[in-house]
Amino acid sequence: MESTSGWIQRTHTCGDLRKTHAGQKVVLNGWVESLRDHGSLRFIDLRDRYGITQVILDVNGPYQQVLPDLRPEYVLSVQGKVRIRPDGMANPRIETGEVELVAEGCQILNPSRTPPFEIAELAAADQNEEIRLKYRYLDLRRRTVQKNIQLRYRVTRAIRNFLESEGFLDLETPFLTRSTPEGARDFLVPSRLQPGNFYALPQSPQLYKQIYMIAGFDRYYQIARCFRDEDLRADRQLEFTQVDIEMAFVKENDVISLVDRLLARVFKEILGKELRLPLPRLSYDEAMSEYGKDAPDVRFDLKLFDLTEAVKGLDYQVLKKAIAGGGSVRGLCLSGGKTLSRKEIDQGEELVKRAGAKGLLWLKLESDGPKGPFAKFLDPEALHRLRAAAQASTGDLILMVADQDRIALTSLGLLRLDLGRRLNLIDPSRSELLWVVDFPLVEWNEEEKRWAACHHPFTSPKEEHEELLSKDPGRIRARAYDIVYNGFELGGGSIRIHRQDVQQALFDVLQITKEEAQQKFGFLLDALSYGAPPHGGIALGLDRFVMLLAGAETIREVIPFPKTASGTCPMTGCPGPVSELQLRELRLRLEPGAGPAPPGGAGELVSK
Ligand code: AMO
Repeated sequence: MESTSGWIQRTHTCGDLRKTHAGQKVVLNGWVESLRDHGSLRFIDLRDRYGITQVILDVNGPYQQVLPDLRPEYVLSVQGKVRIRPDGMANPRIETGEVELVAEGCQILNPSRTPPFEIAELAAADQNEEIRLKYRYLDLRRRTVQKNIQLRYRVTRAIRNFLESEGFLDLETPFLTRSTPEGARDFLVPSRLQPGNFYALPQSPQLYKQIYMIAGFDRYYQIARCFRDEDLRADRQLEFTQVDIEMAFVKENDVISLVDRLLARVFKEILGKELRLPLPRLSYDEAMSEYGKDAPDVRFDLKLFDLTEAVKGLDYQVLKKAIAGGGSVRGLCLSGGKTLSRKEIDQGEELVKRAGAKGLLWLKLESDGPKGPFAKFLDPEALHRLRAAAQASTGDLILMVADQDRIALTSLGLLRLDLGRRLNLIDPSRSELLWVVDFPLVEWNEEEKRWAACHHPFTSPKEEHEELLSKDPGRIRARAYDIVYNGFELGGGSIRIHRQDVQQALFDVLQITKEEAQQKFGFLLDALSYGAPPHGGIALGLDRFVMLLAGAETIREVIPFPKTASGTCPMTGCPGPVSELQLRELRLRLEPGAGPAPPGGAGELVSK
């Protein structure tokens, strides 16, 4: 037992002691998690990163002068002898639960102010998140938060080990860079040396990793921090971490099978679960038409059906109008759903309306015939067709949206998820991973009246669709793939364009002018003309991955120092104002009224 500057250092951690240590003299250092007064004895749960050990102090012990001062979160050094707990007193909930430490000495290494909330795990639920983040160093002491952060480390390590065993090099890319188009707003950093010019923080290392391929580093990975100035949600942060991967001389299957194996390794190592490989694949069209979402949650069935043919010819305005306008009638069939109340159906209608649909049609298949607003328009034959198309039986409820295709699908997709959650159709113990492939290359942006890249503008069209670039871009399918985990987009990637002429043709479709392309991505276009190998890759959202593995509700639970919904950090108070001098050095001036936020205005937190 070595003593330095007057205090006694630990011989063991608070998670170490077992029956085999009985009789040994040991020293523990840690925090007081809780204190209990049992007359002549005081019980302390002493905590550190490794666990909790019960310590027993005698009010007449040689440390009696410190006893009245002890409070939760004090830092102690306790010396004593390990003892097996008396019969019936073992605590199976903690790993050290069969033993306790009978104190022979106790020093306070540092007192603590009374924490603004209890650290003990039982008190962790429903704590105000703003307060938790303001005192994140206390929050991080909690068992569940500690577990999440350690899980993050273990997941990252498993990924690194796997990728390195596959010959990948961990290579860095700059933070101070130019804008990379991943579809979000950039964070800009003003340059002092080049006044009036700005760096952009990377939304992803996309262009650099392609440059690495051109430079011959054919297997790159990076656990990369990315920055996107977008609205925050439960699964989004301003800065987040990607497992970023790029490979040369590969086709889609090489990237997909690598990630299959990577995920299998992590599942095995972290959850002890075997993943069946290859992971299933769905085309984008299948995902949309069956689940109304390009990241479907397939832990429950409740698929969407195309009911257009079945209801064609019915003399019901809503249906007739949608079909005549080139739209479709989509529906889902809730088994045994005839018991759903009017109120519950109305809630469903609210939801699809918020998603842009005009309304929700419903039909209950009662044993004495169909009930619902358009039941009387159904002749026996139409009813038969509808039941067949929706795979419905007596007692079921058919919910339908008649609208433009996309609206009908996406609104029902949301309703499907909502019903899944509300009716407990989702088994939370299941992990379902699948690939979504064959995405469109571009989508029409009605507001801006132009094509926009679905993934990013470096994604390769399918070779057989290259000629459509100049003719019919909307029909082009991309060599892109997303990996979906329990309905979350875990990652996305693609085979890239490695020919300069194809890249230029896509820029033309996206109406990125030659000058603009040259100005923004000239370096990439140049690089592509110096022998770029065929290449492709993917990025997985590490925060989302750990959130799902941990069964956490938001990525904030698995990020050590996350931001609030308004992009602030209640602990450090960032973002904060800067001095006049700093602004002057940067040759920047604030607009009148654009001053610093009022003190303490940390903003609200996002709700899930
Ligand atoms: P993408 O933009 O699809 O692709 O991002 C890849 C993955 O990163 C995660 N992600 C986020 N996680 C938390 N907060 C955010 N704001 C956020 N935004 C994205 C998601 C997503 O699936 N360069 C391409 C990848 C490639 O083509 O190789 C890219 O960044 O899990």
